[in-house]
Amino acid sequence: MISNIKLINRFSSRSPQSLFLVHHYPFSNNSNIKINNNKRYLSSSTMNTTTIDKPFTVIGIETSCDDTSVGIVDSSGKILGEYKVSQWNLHKVHNGIVPTIASKAHKEVIDQVVEGALENASMKIEDVDVIAVTVGPGMAHSLEVGVKKASQLAIKYKKPFCSVNHLEGHSLVARLNQPHIEFPFFTILISGGHTQLLICHGVSNYTLLGTTCDDSIGEALDKAARIIDCRFGEVFDGEKIISNIHGGQAIEILAEKGNPSIYPFNVPMLNSGNCDFSFSGLKSELQRRVGKIKQTNTADERPLTLQEQQDFAASFQECAFKHLENKVTRALNWYYNKPMGSKKTKAAIAKKNKLKEQDEQQQPETIEKAPLKGIVVSGGVAQNQKLRKQLESISKKFRLPLYFPPTSLCTDNGTMIAWAGVEMYRNKMTSNPETVFYIPVWPLDKNNNQNQFFKSTLKEKEQEIRKGWYNNVVNMFNKNDGDVNNKKDE
Ligand code: KG4
Ligand code: ZN
Repeated sequence: MISNIKLINRFSSRSPQSLFLVHHYPFSNNSNIKINNNKRYLSSSTMNTTTIDKPFTVIGIETSCDDTSVGIVDSSGKILGEYKVSQWNLHKVHNGIVPTIASKAHKEVIDQVVEGALENASMKIEDVDVIAVTVGPGMAHSLEVGVKKASQLAIKYKKPFCSVNHLEGHSLVARLNQPHIEFPFFTILISGGHTQLLICHGVSNYTLLGTTCDDSIGEALDKAARIIDCRFGEVFDGEKIISNIHGGQAIEILAEKGNPSIYPFNVPMLNSGNCDFSFSGLKSELQRRVGKIKQTNTADERPLTLQEQQDFAASFQECAFKHLENKVTRALNWYYNKPMGSKKTKAAIAKKNKLKEQDEQQQPETIEKAPLKGIVVSGGVAQNQKLRKQLESISKKFRLPLYFPPTSLCTDNGTMIAWAGVEMYRNKMTSNPETVFYIPVWPLDKNNNQNQFFKSTLKEKEQEIRKGWYNNVVNMFNKNDGDVNNKKDE
C-alpha cells in the first residue's frame, strides 16, 4: 500500500545507523572516534577540573524520534516548565514511524513547543542560562530540526551550548530528583533503540559491557505487540481501548492478566560468554507460534482471543526480562570477579568459544573496577513495573541500590536533555553552536574496547560489514571537519 515509504520501528536494527551502534566489537584501535568526540563535544571537559557551582537554568530540546519535546530545569533539579507534541496520529495509519513524516512534523511544531515550555516556566528565552539539545543518536532529519533550532537560539541570544547524547540524557536523568546517586554506577539502558549495559564513570564517560546484536528490547516488545494483534499505539485490555501507548506498555497491560507458563520461550544466548543480547529470534518464534494458532481448525486466519493475547504477552515479556536479568548478572559477576555461571554453563561457554575453561576466567581487566555506587535503569522500558520488581533481586544480590527515573521521565522527553545539559555545563562541557551537527550514530563509549572484555557473538563477516559502516560515518564527519553546515541542507 505504501511501498515507496520507508517504515521504521524506532531506530530499526536493519538500518546501517543502528547496526553501526554496535561498533565496539571490531574497532578497538580506531582513534578517529576519539577525535570526533573530543574535538567537537568534550573539548573543555578533559582540560577543566573545576566545576560550575552557581545556580543556573537549562532548556533542553529533544527531536531524535517522534516526540517534539522541550524541558526547562534548574541546576538543583527543579523542573520549571515542559511541553511535548507527540506524533501518534500521524504514524498510526502507517502502522509504524515514517522518518520523513516525523521530521516534517518536528519542523511544524518546534517553535510552538519551545514557546510552550517557556510559557509554562513563566520565562523568556533571555532568562535561560544554557541551551542543550539532542544531537544524536536518532533519525537524521528529526535530529536536524532540534539542532538547528537550538543552535539558532544559542547564537542569537549568546548562550552557552551543550550537545547532548540522547543516551546520556536517559542515563543521567535519574540524578535529577535523586542527586545522591554517585558515580560510578552500572547503567541498564533499555529503550526502543538500544539495549546496553554500561559503567557510567562520570559525565560523558562510559564503558560499554554489552549491547544487542539485533533488535533492542523495546523494539522487540513493540513488534511482539503487533504480532499479537495490537494496533500501533493501542491496546484493548478487555474493557476499553487504551490509546497513544508504546507496544511495550501494551504488552505490560496484557501480561498482567496472562499466564507466562502457557507459551514458554527459550531464553536466548545462555551460553554466549559475553553480555550481549539478541531479541530477534524470540520475536520470530512468537510470530511462528501465533501464526500456527491463528490457522488451527479453520481455513482462514482467525484473530487471537484476548486470553491468548494475554498469555502470549506474559510469556514473551517473561522471557525478554529473563534474558536481560541473565546478562545484567553476568556483567556484574564479571565486574566483581565472581564466577560467571555454574560449572556446566562455564564448560558450555568455553566449548562454544573454543577456549580452555580456565581462559574464561582470565579476561584482561582494562578498566579500573572502582566499587559501584548503584544500578541505574533508564529508557522507555524502565517504566515497566514488573521489570522494576524483578531487578530488585539482582540489586539485593550485589548489595547495590537500584535507581529508576520517575516513570514520566523514562520515555523520550526534553527534560532529560535539559538535565544532561546541567551535568555537562557544570563540568564545562560546552560546544560551539556554529559548528555543531547532528549525529545519527553516536556511541556512548568512545573507547570501543568492549571486545577486550568479552568475545563477540558476531560472525567475522558481520563484524567486517559493521566496521565498514563505522568507518564510512567517521570518514564523513572527518571530511566535514566539524562543520554542521556542510551537512545541514543536503
Ligand atoms: O526511551 P524511549 O522513549 O525511546 C527511545 O529512545 O527508543 O523508549 C521507547 C520504548 C518503546 O520500545 C516502548 O515499547 C518501550 O520503550 N516502553 C515500554 C513501556 N513503556 C514504553 N516497555 C515495557 N514496558 C512499558 N511500560
Ligand atoms: Zn530514548
